[in-house]
Amino acid sequence: MEQKTPEIKQVKIQIQPLNVGINYAMEELRREYAQIQGVYEAAIREINARLQTLDSEFSFKHMHNPIHHIESRVKSLPSIVKKLHSLGYPISISCAKKTLHDIAGVRVVCRYVDDIYRIADLLLSQDDISLILEKNYIKNPKANGYRSLHIVVDVPVYMSRGKLYIPVEIQIRTVAMDFWATLEHGIRYKASDEVPQSIVEELRDCANVITETDYKMQEIFKALQKVEDKVDESPESIVKDDGV
Ligand code: GTP
Ligand code: MG
Repeated sequence: MEQKTPEIKQVKIQIQPLNVGINYAMEELRREYAQIQGVYEAAIREINARLQTLDSEFSFKHMHNPIHHIESRVKSLPSIVKKLHSLGYPISISCAKKTLHDIAGVRVVCRYVDDIYRIADLLLSQDDISLILEKNYIKNPKANGYRSLHIVVDVPVYMSRGKLYIPVEIQIRTVAMDFWATLEHGIRYKASDEVPQSIVEELRDCANVITETDYKMQEIFKALQKVEDKVDESPESIVKDDGV
């Protein structure tokens, strides 16, 4: 009887330091994440402001808003930990800052395919923004049919300690591409296992149909614009304008 008591004490002594160690590491990770979160949020605000300015100016000049809507997020701490783990990297914020370029993410949903390139070119022509990485899944769609233009840019953020260049991943796609990607993402996450090949093929077929429609809608829009431009340039219209 007397010999069993020390064994129980030994187990307690082993578990406690381990828990304390894990809690300390998690606390440290949370604290470091909170420190960088504000900087990445500031980078997103910077990109959003520039995109909104471009959209408003374009709308004023050409009576057309290239951007339908914008979504953004700072990657959550659990997602950062999951991604670092899946890549086999050490779980630390300094490693995340060095290796992950999608901590700040912005999704720009445009109306037409041409708008995607228009917005990307205008943003990249700004002299304090530099392109880090480009993946053109419109020219080279993924095997499953996914289409979007992905660019990673460094954007300056002014903090009290000075200027920092922060990477932001920007996904630019049309409303149609976004419709497909949102539903496909939902289907993939709902599937407990690998999505069966037949469904993968059906999804790719859907993406192809959507792409065809995307280009047709753009042609319709362009044709209508030409008609409107002709009306604006007609003598009747000029006389009308002068009379106002
Ligand atoms: P992640 O580890 O997911 O960030 O991928 P990556 O680093 O290889 O970059 P990639 O440019 O391929 O993908 C970045 C992001 O684009 C993803 O996190 C998704 O938001 C989106 N994406 C990429 N491929 C697909 C896809 O097949 N379907 C959907 N719905 N979204 C995709
Ligand atoms: Mg990502």
